Order: sequence, then C-alpha cells, then structure tokens
Amino acid sequence: MPLLQVRGITKRFPGVLALDAVDMAIEPGEVLAVIGENGAGKSTLMKILAGIQAPDDGEMLIDDTPVDIDSPRRATELGIALIHQELNLCDNLTVAANIYLGREPRTFGLIDRAAIHQGATIALAQIGLAIDPNTLLRELPIGHQQLIEIAKALSTQARVLIMDEPTSSLTSEEAKALFTVINDLRGRDVAIVYISHRLSEVTALADRVIILRDGQNAGELARTEIAHNAMVSLMVGRDVSQYYVHQPHEAGAIVLQAEDLVVPVWPKHPLNFSVHRGEIVGIAGLVGAGRTELLQVLFGIAPALAGRVLIDGEPQTLHSPVDAIRAGLALVPEDRKQQGLILEMAVADNIGLPGLHRHHRMGFADYARQNADAEAMIQRLSIRTPDAGQIVQFLSGGNQQKVVLAKWLALEPRVLLLDEPTRGIDVGAKEEIYRLMEELAATGVAVLFASSEMEEILGMSDRTFVMHEGHITGQLQRADLSEEAIMHLATGKAA
Ligand SMILES: Nc1ncnc2c1ncn2[C@@H]1O[C@H](COP(=O)(O)OP(=O)(O)OP(=O)(O)O)[C@@H](O)[C@H]1O
Ligand SMILES: [Mg+2]
Repeated sequence: MPLLQVRGITKRFPGVLALDAVDMAIEPGEVLAVIGENGAGKSTLMKILAGIQAPDDGEMLIDDTPVDIDSPRRATELGIALIHQELNLCDNLTVAANIYLGREPRTFGLIDRAAIHQGATIALAQIGLAIDPNTLLRELPIGHQQLIEIAKALSTQARVLIMDEPTSSLTSEEAKALFTVINDLRGRDVAIVYISHRLSEVTALADRVIILRDGQNAGELARTEIAHNAMVSLMVGRDVSQYYVHQPHEAGAIVLQAEDLVVPVWPKHPLNFSVHRGEIVGIAGLVGAGRTELLQVLFGIAPALAGRVLIDGEPQTLHSPVDAIRAGLALVPEDRKQQGLILEMAVADNIGLPGLHRHHRMGFADYARQNADAEAMIQRLSIRTPDAGQIVQFLSGGNQQKVVLAKWLALEPRVLLLDEPTRGIDVGAKEEIYRLMEELAATGVAVLFASSEMEEILGMSDRTFVMHEGHITGQLQRADLSEEAIMHLATGKAA
C-alpha cells in the first residue's frame, strides 16, 4: 500500500499552469526520484505536499485516507518534511536554534535549551557534520548550511522526507555522507522523494523515477529502466546529444593577470596567474580551497590584502564591484539568493541592474531599451517566464540562475568570472550555458570559472588551475586534464 498518494494535482499561477493533473505515489522505504527541466513543476508539487502552497484541484492521501495539508504545521503532524531547494534558514541564529526553529521543545513553558542542544548534536552527528551546535549559521560555508537544512528535516522524524536538490551545494564527500543517510532511512521505511538535476545521483539512488514536463506526468522508469538517456529524452521530449562539444580556443593576449595577489582567508599564499583573451580557464579544488574567495577578490567584494590585478596590462584598483565592473569584469556568484538577485524585482529590472548607467537617455532611465535588452536575454538563455515583468522570486530555481547569468552577460564584460555556473540547472539548459561560454570565448572574452563538477571542468576548460588550501597547486593544460590529475593536486600533492 502506498504511504502517500497524490491524484490530479493542479496548480495555476498568473500566466502559468505549473501543475496539470499530476499523479504520484510512494511506498514506505522507497526512494522516488522526481526529475524534469527547470520550471517543470517539481518544487511546486513538493511545496503543496509540505503545506506551503494550496493546490487548485486534486487530492492527497496518506495511508489511503484523504488528507487536507493546509499548513506547514499540518504537514509536519502528518509526517511530511521538506528540505527546500533554496536555503530557508536564519543567518543570525545558531545552528541548534535553526534546527528547532518553530518547534522548540519546552519544559514548564520555557524553551529547553539543553534539549535543543542535545537534539541538534544528534542530528549533526547523523549527517556527519562535526561542528558546534552553538555556531552562528552565517559563519558556515554554504555547503554546511545545506547540511543543516537536511539535519533539521531529519530531526522531525518524518515518514515522508522530500529533498529538493539537496546536493546542489555539497562537495562530493558531503554528498556521499548524505547518500549513506538516505540508505539508512530507506532501511527504516521512510519514504524519500528525491529531486535532482544530477542524473548520476538519480541512477545511483532511485528505486523509481517519475518525470514531469510542463507541469504534467511525462513518464515513469522502474529501477531496471533508469538510464541517463532514457531520463533525458523523457525530460526534454526529444533526443539530445549526451554531451556538449568543447572547441579548443586559440588563446590571445593576456587580459587578466594576478601578481602576488593575497586573498584575506589565506593571508600567507600570494597567487600568480593569468587568463588570456578567448580562453576558458577552470578552477578546480575541494570546498574551502579558496576558489570563491579568489573570485570575490577579483570582483572587488573582498579587497585583496596585497598584490595587484592587471587588466590588459593596466593595474586596477578593485575596492568594490563598481570598480570591477568599470574594469570590465563580471561575476556570476555561487549563492544567487544572497548575492545575485533582487528577488522582489522584475526579471527585466534584475537583468538591467548592473548596466543601469547604460540605460540612460538625457538623465532618465531608458525603460524601453532596458526591456528590449531583457527580452533578448530571455530568448537567448530560454528563461522560462510569462514575461519580462515577472517578479524573480516566482521563477523556478534554475530559471533564477539564468537571470543572474543574463544580468552579467548584458554588460558585455572583458573578463567573465563564474562561480558554479550550472548549479541547479537542468541538462538541456546546461548545454546552453556551455555553448554561451564558448561563444563568449570565441568573441575574445576571458572566462574564468570555478566548479565542483568534475565533468564540467574536464569538459569546458582550455586550462585548469587546481587550488588546495589557498595555493594554486598546479595548472593543467587541456591535454593533461584528467580526474586523477585534478584530485591529486586538489588534495595538496605537488604536480
Ligand atoms: N509563486 C509563484 N508565482 C508564480 N509562478 C510560480 C510560482 N511558483 C512557481 N511558479 C512557476 O511555476 C512553474 C513551475 O515552477 P517550479 O519551481 O515548480 O519548477 P521546478 O521544476 O522546481 O524547476 P527548477 O528545476 O528550476 O527548480 C514555473 O514556470 C514557475 O515560474
Ligand atoms: Mg525547483
């Protein structure tokens, strides 16, 4: 008997039919993967199950009994927990407080801090995270924050655990720890709904896969039928090439040069490197190696402690992103919610933001031009939105990521910095982004990107720097690139 069933779930938003009579059922101890392109309706379905959004139509049953999940509290009572795609935690609270937020254990009406501390310690141990529960959330790197979100859901003792892209900010080590937890939960008869754009994870974990396309059920694969190509063709409704093709580039003159550049988190390690015109350079390394910090220094977010950055041979003063934009740099950041987007503003306004100075006519903002530019970008990146006026927070996660990209591309930078450019992006759209990086390089842009996805580093870079604890431990030319060579350098061994 299924533990949870949904039948005919329909959800409309202004201009969008997000879910159109969707069915789904899951049994105890089953890992059900739900996959689909950006905007297919996955997160919406899960928010309905978690009582965050109300369906327009359809029914939900638990143990064959119809239920009305009209609030998150009700979902928790029914044993349903959702790990959100976008982090949903409070920066200024401790780890323990976040884990118990809204359901603090009490004794005699008072919050029982000892119980919270103890419960949080257990939850952290379960996911293999060795940190003090009293740490403030904002002091943790984004990968650890994601793990806290998972610990929080685990600590509710849910019968149905929904994970919406849980590994998108995790290192491969952290992801492995999560898979162990999932297998353990499966053994304890928890039903797990697993959403991911990483199809290799789906292949490794899922007992069954259902595919959503344009808000409808587009197919289902049993354990023995789960294979990359089968999943992709059901997702996109056509056959797609399994892999993008990288064209090696003829590197031109040096555009970006770092001389003895010292990044604040690693004050003892001056960095020296250069990126040429038309070159795509990858930065590989384990989490904490300093990749994000390096990109932030280049973009003027965190001033360098020492050293210089030269663009076309000219030393630059990079005290702020404004300086960096003037120097011809753009950064697509890792954490789009914090640093990339103004969620309350329209798609067109976000895309036009960094280029505001270009959209002026006689001192007035030129909205017609801004809108035309935005429309062009929406086309170019196939951003799924009813129109350029849609508020960004109503777009699906992957489409928000594309807006971040559009925003910086619209500036036509000389140097494009990308931090995890395809996090949360579906297979089809990934290829579009890779093609775009190629196109930009072909027009002479110097592209520098940090990625934790080995395939992306191997597939996209003309040259790769590998970082370990703030050092560049080696540089690999395309011909010498291999997973082994990268891991060797990433773990701190010399070339
Ligand atoms: N609150 C909302 N208001 C308006 N439209 C919305 C809202 N939430 C979602 N949508 C729209 O519903 C559709 C489905 O979005 P959903 O977030 O469920 O996609 P998804 O499958 O999770 O995509 P992704 O892989 O990018 O996370 C999209 O077109 C999205 O823009
Ligand atoms: Mg989603």
